[in-house]
Amino acid sequence: MNDNKTWSGRFNEPVSELVKTYTASIDFDQRLAQHDIQGSLAHAQMLCEAGVLSSDDLAAIERGMADILDEIASGKMTWSQDLEDVHMNVERRLTEKIGDAGKRLHTGRSRNDQVATDIRLWLRDMVDVILRLLRGFQAALLDLAQAHTATVMPGFTHLQVAQPVSFAHHLLAYVEMFGRDHERFADCRKRINRLPLGAAALAGTTFPIKRERVAELLQFDQVCQNSLDAVSDRDFAIEFTAAASLLMVHLSRLSEELILWMSPRFAFIDIADRFCTGSSIMPQKKNPDVPELVRGKSGRVVGHLIALITLMKSQPLAYNKDNQEDKEPLFDTVDTVIDTLRIYTDMIGGITVKPENMRAAVLQGFATATDLADYLVKKGVPFRDSHEIVARAVRHAENENCDLADLSLAVLQDFSPLIEQDIYAVLTPEGSLQQRDHTGGTAPAQAQYQIERWRKIIA
Ligand code: ARG
Repeated sequence: MNDNKTWSGRFNEPVSELVKTYTASIDFDQRLAQHDIQGSLAHAQMLCEAGVLSSDDLAAIERGMADILDEIASGKMTWSQDLEDVHMNVERRLTEKIGDAGKRLHTGRSRNDQVATDIRLWLRDMVDVILRLLRGFQAALLDLAQAHTATVMPGFTHLQVAQPVSFAHHLLAYVEMFGRDHERFADCRKRINRLPLGAAALAGTTFPIKRERVAELLQFDQVCQNSLDAVSDRDFAIEFTAAASLLMVHLSRLSEELILWMSPRFAFIDIADRFCTGSSIMPQKKNPDVPELVRGKSGRVVGHLIALITLMKSQPLAYNKDNQEDKEPLFDTVDTVIDTLRIYTDMIGGITVKPENMRAAVLQGFATATDLADYLVKKGVPFRDSHEIVARAVRHAENENCDLADLSLAVLQDFSPLIEQDIYAVLTPEGSLQQRDHTGGTAPAQAQYQIERWRKIIA
């Protein structure tokens, strides 16, 4: 097109080719087409109910839009950069099909409220997908935990063996994290689910529109209460990306642990071959590519959060073209999160646990030293003194190259005469677990309780 057809009479020369390519969003926002049409149909129906559009026009619009949806689904719709974005592409196609009724559709609205509506409709659907995937992922973790409520492994602080925990307890820590991620997405959905349409360009419209009716048709919980705010803020998208960033950070932590656990230095688990790759040069290699890539992709999503929040910073009211830049980071965040959750859910089901290696690692680190200290406290020794007594016993065991549980009763009694035969029940990793039997503790019964509690929540 060599005149400036899209913008018509206002312009004296065509937009330059470079500017056209630079400013067009159709290459990526065509993804919003279905939601754009959904919003348009509700707008048209309301305009008809308000007496602004005739019922013939409405019928034509509905028919035309149904055709366009078919064209999109069958890949027949052609998208043009000359028409800049999805909104004008769809509108032009509609007008080609139904004539003047298509030109009347844009009465009482602007692309500014239209695009804000489309993103919210689309993102709301995506949040619902993510909420379901998160529950499925938690269920996979619970299935794995169920088999390991009594499997001991080292709990670490500073990546040094600290105290025994059960593998189930460790997995349940992640179930908690992903539970809070679920809460965050569900909460941000409330603020996504508000209708901007009717704000028109920025000030509202002179037509007798019924925004509440459009909200009802589109199942929005409420309408945005200020037209300037409605078209200009993308805080809901920023908030979503923040929730996604936290989710990806949680997944990056799990990824890091899976990578460590799969390393032959730990050898706590194995990941099914379908999630690993080999090396082009080293025939013996089996690399945990999926967790590594998830660890890497977490950086990408956090990057999108920074992009979106910086996009909004210092923007004057109301709509600015800057906001067109909201889509690619948001789309990529959604794609990354959805793909990652799908693959992770499958991968968790493909983990083989090596309990004997986990237990051997517990025994290497004097992991029950705190249990011995607690034992002495229960016999009346002040905790600080007991801490010191146990430190000396640990040093002795270290010199002897054995675990605390390997020291004879006579040797242990040299450190404190209060130690008796029942100490050995305390010094085993299993005994250590058993005794932490309170809400949030690592006892097998507590893990069982948490698994059942979560199963009810996610049911
Ligand atoms: N493609 C635009 C976007 O993504 C649609 C809104 C354009 N509005 C405008 N006044 N230029 O934000």
